[in-house]
Amino acid sequence: MGFFYGNKLLQLSTLYVFLQQIFKNLKSISMKIAVVGATGMVGGVVLQVLEERQFPINELLLVASEKSVGKKMVFKNKEYTVMGLEQAVEAAPDLAIFSAGGTTSLEWAPRFAAVGTKVIDNSSAWRMDHHKKLIVPEINASLLTREDAIIANPNCSTIQLVMVLYPLHQKYRIKRVVISTYQSVTGTGVKAMQQLNNETHGKGGDMAYPYPIHRNAIPHCDVFEENGYTKEEMKMVRETQKILADPTIAVSATAVRVPVVGGHSESVNVEFEQDFNIDELRLLLHPTPGVTLQDNPDTQTYPMPLYAQGKDEVFVGRIRRDLSQPKSLNMWIVSDNLRKGAATNTVQIAEYLVNNKLI
Ligand SMILES: NC(=O)c1ccc[n+]([C@@H]2O[C@H](COP(=O)([O-])OP(=O)(O)OC[C@H]3O[C@@H](n4cnc5c(N)ncnc54)[C@H](OP(=O)(O)O)[C@@H]3O)[C@@H](O)[C@H]2O)c1
Repeated sequence: MGFFYGNKLLQLSTLYVFLQQIFKNLKSISMKIAVVGATGMVGGVVLQVLEERQFPINELLLVASEKSVGKKMVFKNKEYTVMGLEQAVEAAPDLAIFSAGGTTSLEWAPRFAAVGTKVIDNSSAWRMDHHKKLIVPEINASLLTREDAIIANPNCSTIQLVMVLYPLHQKYRIKRVVISTYQSVTGTGVKAMQQLNNETHGKGGDMAYPYPIHRNAIPHCDVFEENGYTKEEMKMVRETQKILADPTIAVSATAVRVPVVGGHSESVNVEFEQDFNIDELRLLLHPTPGVTLQDNPDTQTYPMPLYAQGKDEVFVGRIRRDLSQPKSLNMWIVSDNLRKGAATNTVQIAEYLVNNKLI
């Protein structure tokens, strides 16, 4: 007895082997995944992005601190119980997406790696480690190999910056970049959102920042380093050079927290080695995957966090020559820090690993 597959007649035994192979392939790409920091701001969006992009999951472990163990959460209409890190390591997942702060990553990412789990880490713990890759898939995913056990996801302000700088650097070679950020409160996590909500409603409560954020602008993101810059500012310097694989690019940043929730905005001044034609430069950015040009003063079209919220693209506009200096331009870059700045980039890395059989 036989069956037709396409225009081929298959014997029953051949069909059985064929179906077995399909089943095996489906099983091998469907994975056991741990989301570490599942109760947090980034963790929540990671779950949302995994669901939206139909990432192949056959077992999901939701992991958080001891205070959340036992809490119930829902993913794809199914209820899960939050577990602790020890229990998650024992389950040896294929992949762990970490968004639980640097201290947790430093201690636990190697423990997951030791049981064969691939770790993609959202914290700053491993980003500047010479043995760890710092990945923005549109730029440097091809660096990844099966041997990369812990992969670092860049800082949110850096991701949206390099997404736009990369094609420009390829064409005109960047000499120097000066950035001023206007960063969303969502970048500091759940506690900061609570502070803004409390202050907006005239209530007291725990403070994530040293000052009120409602109706304020705080020129202080993350802790201060000895050189007078904040860690957030130095992340933009070091991570940009690492991702663009060019330590000669001079980068200077000022990071400011503003009472905004949709995403981070950046005023960016770039000086190039080579001169450029502004229309040609726009044409170069237009087809760049993941980048959307919103740039038309006549129609008051420019990127804004209110409209970037919930989207995966990096929006760029207000592109204009710097009239004070040759071979230089100014632009305005906006992106949802929780999406491309964190969750989406992480899930894209995971997809690259799956699609290229690196996991
Ligand atoms: N927010 C952003 O835009 C952004 C962007 C890029 C990267 N990141 C990075 O992503 C990480 C998380 O940021 P977030 O904004 O999501 O912070 P968050 O809202 O404060 O969430 C922190 C998460 O980590 C968990 N956690 C804390 N300590 C833990 C521990 N000892 N063991 C296990 N889980 C622990 C928390 O669990 P409990 O609920 O149980 O406390 C919570 O799920 C940070 O490293 C941050 O730098 C954030």
